[in-house]
Amino acid sequence: MDFELTDEQKLVQKTAADFARNEVLPKAAEIDRNHRHPKELVARMAELGLLGVAVPEEWGGAGFDTVSYVLAMEEISRACASTGVIMSVNNSLVCDPLQKFATDEQKKEFLEPLATGKKLGCFALSEPEAGSDAAAQKTVARADGDDFVINGIKNWITNGPVADVCILHTMTAPEKGHKGITAFILPMDTKGVRTGPPDKKLGIRGSQSCQIFLDDVRLSKHFLLGEVGGGFKVAMSTLDGGRIGIAAQALGIARASLEDALAYATERKTFGKPIAQHQAIQWKLADMATELDAARLLTLQAAVMKDRGQRHSMQSAMAKVFASEVANRAAKEAVQIFGGNGYVEDFPVERHFRDAKITEIYEGTSEIQRLVIASNLLKE
Ligand code: CAA
Repeated sequence: MDFELTDEQKLVQKTAADFARNEVLPKAAEIDRNHRHPKELVARMAELGLLGVAVPEEWGGAGFDTVSYVLAMEEISRACASTGVIMSVNNSLVCDPLQKFATDEQKKEFLEPLATGKKLGCFALSEPEAGSDAAAQKTVARADGDDFVINGIKNWITNGPVADVCILHTMTAPEKGHKGITAFILPMDTKGVRTGPPDKKLGIRGSQSCQIFLDDVRLSKHFLLGEVGGGFKVAMSTLDGGRIGIAAQALGIARASLEDALAYATERKTFGKPIAQHQAIQWKLADMATELDAARLLTLQAAVMKDRGQRHSMQSAMAKVFASEVANRAAKEAVQIFGGNGYVEDFPVERHFRDAKITEIYEGTSEIQRLVIASNLLKE
């Protein structure tokens, strides 16, 4: 296996790292405290090509690969996990399915402005009674001549309050189960679309999410994404890519926890020496670093497979479940190393601790990732 990054991948990584260190990190605590959507950082990410990293240049993207996307996502999320997920949703859950399933006409109209960052996207699959069981959709799209009339409620929609375009999943034939699901491209200013107030969350407070209410929303066939009845495959293959993005977000949170803990441990003294000189602290740091490297290798493996066009459902699930659990362990240990200072807002690790939790939940819980891994093992 070749572990050497290409010059292009190194350049993307450095661009993202410089931006993250100089422009994102100084604002991360304030964004979190004020539950603020970082509009100005999203605009800068657009300028830097970070909102359509792996989208070909002909469709407005930066034309890089999934490995570059992972490297950039880690850097941005190391500074601010909220900014990281805004980037991840637009890249993985919106641009990626458009690239894969949209017609050229739809790509021109929707992918181009999303990949350049002129517009921002969201992805609506979950519902009040359909989270892990994604096939239990209740949102109905009823055919009416050449149109579809859509009614339902979508839940936990990251970027929902600020999005211009939504990749929407509906039931066109409820009796067919997952084969009755159909995806649409929904402009958020369509009549009958309403967003609820932003969810009040434990972490990633700068990333706004909400419910979306759909009341007699009329869309013509032009807005179908893929085939009627093909929506479950759109959703699942999109999540295969999305889980790589969330694994990379988790890497960023784990790295932030390790780097902050390392810096603190060399300064803070107890019993006459820096706490980094105590073996109890050294073992924590050693485990954090080892697990972070292992999580990064799994994430890069899934990204390489995606770039090669190989099926990577299992590798994405492995990367996501492992990296998210590593991020949670790392953040927990960082709080412990900071002691009382880890429990207050004056230091960054309580934010890492709160931000880490969501990576074990969205885009498929850890339990769902293990189901995906097991079902792939049993198939082989
Ligand atoms: N790619 C393509 N097709 C796939 C696929 C994949 N990765 N996974 C499954 N399929 C296909 C199967 O081949 C099968 O097709 P056929 O009927 O033609 O044979 C079909 O889909 C059904 O497959 P399963 O029987 O495995 O489906 P299931 O109903 O048992 O569900 C599941 C599988 C893994 C549990 C799935 O429901 C799942 O992933 N659930 C979690 C959903 C999730 O991640 N939600 C997060 C919401 S998004 C979010 O969080 C966004 C945000 O705002 C950040």
